[in-house]
Amino acid sequence: MSVPDLVGHTTDRGTLDPMTGVDSPFAHGLAHEFSLLGREITRRSPLYGAVCEGIAAAPDVIELLHAAPVAHRRPVQLLAALHHRVLDDPHHPLRAHYPSTGGTPGHDVVEVALNTCRDDRTELQRIIATRGVQTNEVGRAPILMTSLRHLVGDDPIDLVDLGTSAGLTLLGDRYSTDLTDANGVSHVSWGNAQPTLVCGIRNEHAWNLEPAPTIVGRGGLDPDPIRMDDADGPRWLDACVWPDQHDRRARLRAAITTATLTPPELHTGRLPDDLATVADLVHNPSRPAITTSWALAYLTPEERRATLQTITQIITERDAVAVMAESPEECPEIPWPDTVRGSRRTEVIGGYRTSGRSVMWAHLGTAHPHGVWFHLASRHHSDA
Ligand SMILES: C[S@@+](CC[C@H](N)C(=O)[O-])C[C@H]1O[C@@H](n2cnc3c(N)ncnc32)[C@H](O)[C@@H]1O
Repeated sequence: MSVPDLVGHTTDRGTLDPMTGVDSPFAHGLAHEFSLLGREITRRSPLYGAVCEGIAAAPDVIELLHAAPVAHRRPVQLLAALHHRVLDDPHHPLRAHYPSTGGTPGHDVVEVALNTCRDDRTELQRIIATRGVQTNEVGRAPILMTSLRHLVGDDPIDLVDLGTSAGLTLLGDRYSTDLTDANGVSHVSWGNAQPTLVCGIRNEHAWNLEPAPTIVGRGGLDPDPIRMDDADGPRWLDACVWPDQHDRRARLRAAITTATLTPPELHTGRLPDDLATVADLVHNPSRPAITTSWALAYLTPEERRATLQTITQIITERDAVAVMAESPEECPEIPWPDTVRGSRRTEVIGGYRTSGRSVMWAHLGTAHPHGVWFHLASRHHSDA
């Protein structure tokens, strides 16, 4: 389908999409975002590629997202709510089309998806209003670990992960991990717990690659942390995984097994207000290391600015480091270098204190959104 050429009208709550009348965090509006995303993911998830393109042309279905706060009105929120219904309802018409329930996408999958969204409005709106996207992508752990090690060297750290979901990336030093070169040859490996994670390092000679840092304390912050002993939590994690991505589902389940044996410490709280408290709770005498991955996009611009201010303060006062794997397009308040400003990719930035006690931010690289590869930045930090 062709992308409607619509220019959104910016309001103080987001950008009003003239096609749907729904404010959203996207300057180009939600219909356009569904269409863009559909085209971007079609190779990784042909099923969601097609469903997103279908929803892009269905304003009454997009309108379901009105039930969520503006910062959460995004395609994955609607897709996760729909998937949750499919997993939950043994008679759901999409079960025959979703590989996660043993189905195979048929030629009419988009039509069935749109019809079930229309028939199931009340329940979908209830889920959209009460649950946020909490995809816990354990594949991002190697990227966070190798970035942290690059910043702290041999210093032991207290890891604080913000927007942690189930806290699975807090255990990145434990998973059996391989960083490989372009030919699949291992450069460095660590860990022996499930799952096995392989991350292809591009531009691998840019850094001296080393194993995960030594993690002494670890804790995560989330408004709604997912705990392994709550039956509905892991089911919601499952719903956030795309139905035709078996490899992601398998590594999520394996990571859940590891997290069940050694649960990370999870704190209920919300950015920006509770960040300082959590940093204080993880109070080993080690260097604090703060991470975020695909979490700051769910904040309002004001919340992001306040969060960055607090992170900067913690770096200054406690010689902390920070690694953020986020989208520049969705998080323009992060101090991205001009080379990646506005990018829709997952860019990784690191913050640290210089010997002159100022805070430096350096672009560390570009990552596959689910951690398949990490392209290291050639010019990284210097103590300027
Ligand atoms: C897409 S998930 C990413 C989870 C994890 N960081 C990862 O990369 O796998 C976004 C997470 O941010 C959390 N979140 C949303 N608003 C937040 C806020 N104000 N403060 C802290 N976390 C928040 C959500 O609950 C969710 O768990």
